[in-house]
Amino acid sequence: MSEALQNATDQPTTPIRLVGTARFDDWRNALEPRARAWVDAAGFKGKPGQYAWLPDTDGQPATVVVGSDERDGLATLGGLPYTLPPGLYRIEDPVSDLQLLGWALGAYRFERYRNNGREAARLVVAESARLAALTELDMAITLVRDLINTPAADMLPSHLAAEAMQLAEVHGATCEVTVGEALLDRNLNTIHAVGRAAHDEPRLIDISWGDPAHPGIVLIGKGVCFDSGGLDIKPSSAMRTMKKDMGGAAHVLGLAHLIMAERLPVHLRVLIPAVENAINGNAFRPGDVLATYQGLTVEIDNTDAEGRLVLCDALALAVESNPALIVDFATLTGAARTAVGTEIAAMFSNDDALAEAIYRAGVAQDDPVWRLPLHEPYAAMLDSKIADLANASSSPYAGAITAALFLARFVGTCPWVHFDIMAFNTRARPGRPEGGEAMGVRAVHAYLRERFPPP
Ligand code: BES
Ligand code: MN
Ligand code: ZN
Repeated sequence: MSEALQNATDQPTTPIRLVGTARFDDWRNALEPRARAWVDAAGFKGKPGQYAWLPDTDGQPATVVVGSDERDGLATLGGLPYTLPPGLYRIEDPVSDLQLLGWALGAYRFERYRNNGREAARLVVAESARLAALTELDMAITLVRDLINTPAADMLPSHLAAEAMQLAEVHGATCEVTVGEALLDRNLNTIHAVGRAAHDEPRLIDISWGDPAHPGIVLIGKGVCFDSGGLDIKPSSAMRTMKKDMGGAAHVLGLAHLIMAERLPVHLRVLIPAVENAINGNAFRPGDVLATYQGLTVEIDNTDAEGRLVLCDALALAVESNPALIVDFATLTGAARTAVGTEIAAMFSNDDALAEAIYRAGVAQDDPVWRLPLHEPYAAMLDSKIADLANASSSPYAGAITAALFLARFVGTCPWVHFDIMAFNTRARPGRPEGGEAMGVRAVHAYLRERFPPP
């Protein structure tokens, strides 16, 4: 964790003032002439990303004035940890929790393999309850990012299971893992088929937490630790980023951390099919037919459409306990990225009110999600000549929708939300460093907190 936010201290802190472009002229004109000269010399105009020092009566730099975007989001303070000189700061103007979170998230760097050699500026948050809530969010997002950024060789199914075990232990949850051939004994055939060619065996991670009398929530995350495409091998450029194909798993572990840390009154279950989609003599093949856990048969049209295969058995398992809500996160399709780009989570749901509420929570949390339709007529694109359905569409269009429709076949009428996410920032923005990223986690967390308020 970054520890960029800290509690009240006796150490000296540098005050920060926020000034946006709208207020800039009035603010500048009210400055005493010497301070005005410092501001002008720095070229400060109140634009986001700008800052300037203001002198005290001895002419020493004393206060930092920072350009404000005048929005309530991660970006307002998210660039400051690595823009301001390292040190300890306090903010003199009112700021929101979201803006403070931006500072924490902007201080993140992935330092497993090297130290990035620059200390983040730190900020005092004097209200301890506020700091505690922000710290949990920071820890959850940091976990998501670290899991995604870790290369496949160090984040294989066995490593992912160890991470899940550790999280469960911290929160007093149970965690059962079904490994390798044992998947076949339980009829979890798709998870086994996708992962069986890999040296690190496929497995299903199953975390349970909370009072069984509370409403059941099942979180499901795609845990493809590396996606080579299988026998339908990906070209190098497409394979290059596929360590992040367990991003959905990382997302549900981060979300589970928040639910358990805040003790939301729910009965939580986390299901992660963890596999590597590898190539070997025993790999599953195009044209093979798999019997799913639910009973439907699936003809493999493309071994690179593996995410929906591992998810379908997890979904069928989730539905058995008739939960109040199923939420899945998956780096499922390139087509979702074509539709909404890399920075918005594509959302699908069989429940309009649920989708609307999560959309609104996403707007409020600066965690954008956008709904795409489960357009039933497109389900015909998944027809197979020899099995109940095919795992890939016969059409090059609407790939995110046909993938979601595939999943929908295994969900039935249980309230369900599916997120097709990038899980990775392809460029750095304030509060959102390049690399692994949580997308939709804070939206769903805010929705759940509102529906199931903590005690
Ligand atoms: N993990 C990929 C999807 C992906 C690619 C997500 C790039 C984010 C960025 C997934 O397993 C995949 O390969 N999907 C195929 C499906 C196709 C074969 C039907 C795709 O999107 O091309
Ligand atoms: Mn794939
Ligand atoms: Zn994949």
